[in-house]
Amino acid sequence: MKRILSGIQPSGSLHIGNYFGMMQKMIRYQDEADLFCFIANYHAMTSVTDPRALAAGTLEAAAAFLALGLDPGKATFWVQSDVPEVQELTWILSTITPMGLLERCHSYKDKVAKGIQPNHGLFAYPVLMAADILLYRSDVVPVGKDQKQHLEVTRDLAQKFNHTYGETFVVPEAEIDDEVAVIPGTDGRKMSKSYGNTIDIFTDRETLRKRVMSIVTDATPVEAPKDPDRCNLFAIYRLFLTPDEVRALRDRYLAGGLKYSDVKKELVERIWGYFETHRARFQELLSRPDEIHDILREGARKAREVGGKVLEDVRRKTGLAYR
Ligand code: ADP
Ligand code: TRP
Repeated sequence: MKRILSGIQPSGSLHIGNYFGMMQKMIRYQDEADLFCFIANYHAMTSVTDPRALAAGTLEAAAAFLALGLDPGKATFWVQSDVPEVQELTWILSTITPMGLLERCHSYKDKVAKGIQPNHGLFAYPVLMAADILLYRSDVVPVGKDQKQHLEVTRDLAQKFNHTYGETFVVPEAEIDDEVAVIPGTDGRKMSKSYGNTIDIFTDRETLRKRVMSIVTDATPVEAPKDPDRCNLFAIYRLFLTPDEVRALRDRYLAGGLKYSDVKKELVERIWGYFETHRARFQELLSRPDEIHDILREGARKAREVGGKVLEDVRRKTGLAYR
């Protein structure tokens, strides 16, 4: 059975871009693959420096995954920092990582261009990510398009290590779904916490309404036919629709007479209903954090069992195990 692994940073509320870009797909895999899913709290330290926010975000991200259907009986589900082996592997990989490879990473360059003072953690981010993936000999890593280059770095490092020290790591495949590759935000750019253009999964109803009403649309008059394929509202709405419903909405756009504000009101209802049962479960889980802690503790135990063996192999191959 294939091992499928992915992680998400607990660096803010989870939004529908995270859900359709990554979480939904991951959760579906638990029935057909050996699913490894974790909360990347070490990675989040590159942007979150408030300790309470980091701890609360970690718990919330875990509750979100569980509420949305992740079953810890089927998948291995843990918090990154509960498996310290990943840090040792990060160091080992960093010794074979060319500086140029990291200097070329868009995600790093974009952040620097935005004026963020780069620290070593941000620069070395892809090496930790490679360790996350390689430590568990993952076969497939489903991610959004923005993470594609990081997967290429991971593959490079796996190959380089195997070449230098002998066959050790599985060279993982990235899985990027074109259909939902980039979910647009309310302003039409990629939905991202850093752009403030998100629609959050577990927000309250009034905030949801405001966010949806703020989706940017064009100035085509009501009577005129509208182009669904260039409409941001359509791109978001379709995520919640069946193929038949997508066709029906498309026809309404093309026919003319469609008011964007009506579509937005329908969308508010649709999103609210879509996550209704999950929302209740999310609140319930957060009111009993001990239950979440137990699940994560058991997940970390399972992850360490697998990762510990791989790290032992790495230690032997590299000569770190000298006795
Ligand atoms: P953000 O951009 O809000 O900081 P993250 O970088 O934490 O989100 O992304 C977590 C996961 O969700 C990644 O796998 C990422 O590729 C996916 N993801 C985030 N935003 C989107 C989006 N707008 N469309 C598709 N996938 C996304
Ligand atoms: N960098 C990823 C993101 O921001 C999160 C992540 C960390 C990850 N380690 C990973 C994703 C390993 C996949 C595999 O979305």
